[in-house]
Amino acid sequence: MRQVSLRPIFSTKLGVLYKGDCLEILPHIQSETVTTVFADPPYNLGKYYGTEVNDNLPELEYLNWCKCWTAEGIRTLIPGGAFFLYNLPKWNIILADYLLKLGMSFRHWIAVSMKLGLPIPGRLYPSHYSLLYFTKGKPKTFKKIRVPIEKCRHCGKETKDYGGHRDVMNANGVNLTGVWNDIPPIYRFLNDVLSNRNAFASMRSISSVTVATSIRFVLNKRIKLRCRKKTIGR
Ligand SMILES: C[S@@+](CC[C@H](N)C(=O)[O-])C[C@H]1O[C@@H](n2cnc3c(N)ncnc32)[C@H](O)[C@@H]1O
Repeated sequence: MRQVSLRPIFSTKLGVLYKGDCLEILPHIQSETVTTVFADPPYNLGKYYGTEVNDNLPELEYLNWCKCWTAEGIRTLIPGGAFFLYNLPKWNIILADYLLKLGMSFRHWIAVSMKLGLPIPGRLYPSHYSLLYFTKGKPKTFKKIRVPIEKCRHCGKETKDYGGHRDVMNANGVNLTGVWNDIPPIYRFLNDVLSNRNAFASMRSISSVTVATSIRFVLNKRIKLRCRKKTIGR
């Protein structure tokens, strides 16, 4: 194993950020100390992530690599901790089975709708990524989130009639469902702005903040605000 420096590249009073190969960093993390693992690995689609990453591995090799950091991630989780794994349905269907085999409890398969997929000949048009949500036993934290009732962005009218039960709906909105929307333009901007990318971030704060909220969505919101500030400052 290559010697890695465990010096964080960024830290605030909320936590620290390490940069490096997840398989070299994770073994240094004590067992049962992490509240939430969120993994957004390369999807083995042949993308370029720098010279140290091969994103075009033989399928078995890719899956074995995913299984290595999945197992390490689970080891670091506290009982009740959450494991989020964002990937293509093609990989997550196999990795979900692996998570089950390692004793994790299935909570949700969240379909994250994507807007900018490319058509694949002979297949359905791919329109969602999979975000797996598992916990190590009974979840330590699970907050129910309500989201505002959906309105048309053109006319401002509500888009659904809720089967005629609109009048008995909770004024705080509807329960968060298992279908989420991504915000791709901001994500691309994020990629441009941040040259440091990490696939495997253990986000301790998130499980206390949310049930099943993708970190990327939280990040996007922050980045959006930061972008706005930047624009205003110019
Ligand atoms: C699909 S991207 C996710 C990026 C990030 N979550 C974001 O939203 O910007 C996959 C990332 O995994 C990183 N990566 C690839 N192999 C890695 C490894 N062995 N350890 C840590 N990160 C790795 C790549 O550099 C790339 O940034």
